[in-house]
Amino acid sequence: MKEKIPIRMTILLLFLILAIGGKELTCLKQREDTSRALMNHQVNKTILVEGGDVYDCIGVNVQPAFNNPLLKDHKIQMEPSSIPLITYVESPSMHSMPQTQLPIIDCPIGTIPILRKNRMDNIAVKTIDVVISKDFQKEGAGIKYKDELYGTRAKINVYAPKVETDSKDISASSIQMNGGPNPGFRDGIGAGSFVYPSYSGDNFARFHVYWDDGLPTTICIDHDCPGFVQVSRSVGLGGRIKPISVYKGTQYVIDVLIFKDRKTKNWWVAYGEQNTPIGYWPSSIFQYMKDKCDFAFWGGYVQGPTASTNSPQLGSGHFASEGFGKASFIKNIQIVDKNNRLATPNVHRSFPGSTNSSKYTSSNYEVNNYGMHMYYGGPGDLV
Ligand SMILES: *[C@@H]1O[C@H](CO)[C@@H](O)[C@H](O)[C@H]1NC(C)=O
Ligand SMILES: *[C@@H]1O[C@H](CO)[C@@H](O)[C@H](O)[C@H]1NC(C)=O
Repeated sequence: MKEKIPIRMTILLLFLILAIGGKELTCLKQREDTSRALMNHQVNKTILVEGGDVYDCIGVNVQPAFNNPLLKDHKIQMEPSSIPLITYVESPSMHSMPQTQLPIIDCPIGTIPILRKNRMDNIAVKTIDVVISKDFQKEGAGIKYKDELYGTRAKINVYAPKVETDSKDISASSIQMNGGPNPGFRDGIGAGSFVYPSYSGDNFARFHVYWDDGLPTTICIDHDCPGFVQVSRSVGLGGRIKPISVYKGTQYVIDVLIFKDRKTKNWWVAYGEQNTPIGYWPSSIFQYMKDKCDFAFWGGYVQGPTASTNSPQLGSGHFASEGFGKASFIKNIQIVDKNNRLATPNVHRSFPGSTNSSKYTSSNYEVNNYGMHMYYGGPGDLV
């Protein structure tokens, strides 16, 4: 992403300023205040969510995505031109698993909710760490998939894995897709549940969408870097997912669907049993996945400066072999095929596994007409 380089340069400069001395801190503060003032200018309503999150409703046509130079002439698409065809009817028993809730914000028509960054200092520090960190670490467990695909859908079991508050690591349960020849020349998109204390300032499971250019240092979450165009006036990206699953108790899932719009080539994200659209990544921000994706990953991963040396929990924090109600799962995994239909992924192109089986495992891998299913997770180095 060419436009990200200046951002990185700015961050590096900010770091240098910070490194020189404390008095320049005011400089950083002023920059934040400027951007906040700019935002306020466009805020139509501010909504305080139970628990302390604050969302600003801003005009759908002035949302952060449109600061991306690649979207200068972009015409907003308010709804997908079509949704992938569901080729099976779920039996009633399939519905017995309760859906958890994404944060629902009631923004006025014509506006969308943006989570206010009330913990800017943390975020600045985090970004600097990521950029200068040479020892970037990542581990995971789940299914890697290597085939042409145009979307994916799955039910993600939601837990809040333990991540040490001061660690700057992330523990994610998500579905994601990538396109491009190899790392460094690859675009990626994904959505799911994150525990990311150094980002959100707490240990809750929160719903995020993200995209990147294949370089692990440049993951863009929600509206952080301009690119994701939100159309839903009610889904609060970055908000808490509630309720979450309890070990040996009720298991909650969230349905997530990502798919390519056949007319506009934009990549949509939708959620829930009704596939309610949240928004999309315009095709024009990508270099390598304009037409299709070549890879998918379903499962969990941990990422950050200590993700391998002092690994957080993944999933429920319990190994996959514990099975239902104890280990975390992703089920009804499907892909969107070239005919715009939801289909079971090709088993010969699916590679279940984990990066280090003494920390995390994946097992009970299974395939039927409703898709693929798998348990995954583990304690990491936290016992
Ligand atoms: C936001 O509020 C301003 C001022 O009340 C109004 O002019 C504008 O149309 C509103 N924008 C939207 C998208 O509702
Ligand atoms: C796997 O994790 C264990 C426990 O943290 C560690 O001792 C071991 O070195 C790791 N193995 C690899 C191949 O990284």
